[in-house]
Amino acid sequence: MGAMNSFDTITSTIGTSLLLYTSYKLLDTVRLYLRPSDLHRYRYTDGTGQSPWALVTGSSSGIGKNLAFELAGQGFNVVLHGRSPSKLETVRDELRLAYPDTEIRIIVADASQCHRPDAVDFARIRDEIASLHLTVLINCAGAGPSPAFSGLETYGRDTIVDSLHLNAVFPTLLTATLLPVLRGQYRDGEHTSGALMRPRPALIINIGSVTDDGFPLISFYSAGKSAVHALHKAIAREAAVDGWDADVEIISHRVGAVTGVSHTQAAPSLLRPDARTIAKAILARTGCGRKSVVPYWPHAVFQVVLAILPIWLVDTIINGAMREERRVQDETAKKE
Ligand SMILES: NC(=O)c1ccc[n+]([C@@H]2O[C@H](COP(=O)([O-])OP(=O)(O)OC[C@H]3O[C@@H](n4cnc5c(N)ncnc54)[C@H](OP(=O)(O)O)[C@@H]3O)[C@@H](O)[C@H]2O)c1
Repeated sequence: MGAMNSFDTITSTIGTSLLLYTSYKLLDTVRLYLRPSDLHRYRYTDGTGQSPWALVTGSSSGIGKNLAFELAGQGFNVVLHGRSPSKLETVRDELRLAYPDTEIRIIVADASQCHRPDAVDFARIRDEIASLHLTVLINCAGAGPSPAFSGLETYGRDTIVDSLHLNAVFPTLLTATLLPVLRGQYRDGEHTSGALMRPRPALIINIGSVTDDGFPLISFYSAGKSAVHALHKAIAREAAVDGWDADVEIISHRVGAVTGVSHTQAAPSLLRPDARTIAKAILARTGCGRKSVVPYWPHAVFQVVLAILPIWLVDTIINGAMREERRVQDETAKKE
């Protein structure tokens, strides 16, 4: 009888704890998607009255372009980055038309060649940016291989290396280059590891992907996204280790499928929203206190479902989805 009572007490304590924990997690997740954004924290003038700037890499199309528009709409001047001067000039002209008061600069650099000092001059980028009052850096440039949806061994060395440079090495080097600027330790060609030379704070956003978990048929893209996601989480922890986490917010976004981007203009749906919706969702999560977040709630619900399913079923779903992507791509190629 006594043993039965203790068993009941233990199971009901475990049950209540689980219920409380699940309710807490659920409420915390709902709060994540309802709380107002803290983006305004990064919209302040510096000591000389200069307006804030945001640098968005890969802003000649898709999510990056929409982020640039959203930021301009919210009062930031914008540095556009891409590899095509003409595409960037077109975006600049569109931005000027929509937001005549926004100042715009352009940086052209082929991220896939970032290992070559003659192709990407990070010191020049740093000096150009250091003359501005940069408070936001968004690492968004990235792309899968074209054509995608093929086995690793079918790609040539250059395709794989270029992809890893674009998706992983470029954001790593750019963030390393601009961190002293964002922390106010670099200005006018001078680097001081000591006192901050400008008011704080600053924001670094990484545009990652839910495919960073080892997706088949886009293996090295998935690996590059995984590397740069880990990088941003690691530097967020470095900020805490070295005591500057109150100065620079670092957040890595795991984005699901999006349309209105260069590789697809399909009609938007709940699980494949357009690039504008995703750009808004990304900026809306600013200040949420997490290092890693799925910015758009329907994508997040899908990730939660995957997290509770058995691995064999997750593998079946992911492999089936990627097989289907390959089938559609092959059929489209045959028709063209
Ligand atoms: N679309 C999705 O379903 C999805 C899902 C998860 C994550 N993401 C991520 O979201 C980010 C934006 O992608 P998107 O979907 O908006 O695609 P997108 O429309 O193709 O935009 C990609 C941007 O990156 C730039 N870029 C590509 N290669 C470059 C290079 N070698 N050097 C410099 N810039 C380069 C592109 O410039 P050009 O205009 O010159 O090509 C463009 O501005 C990427 O990091 C991607 O991995 C996308």
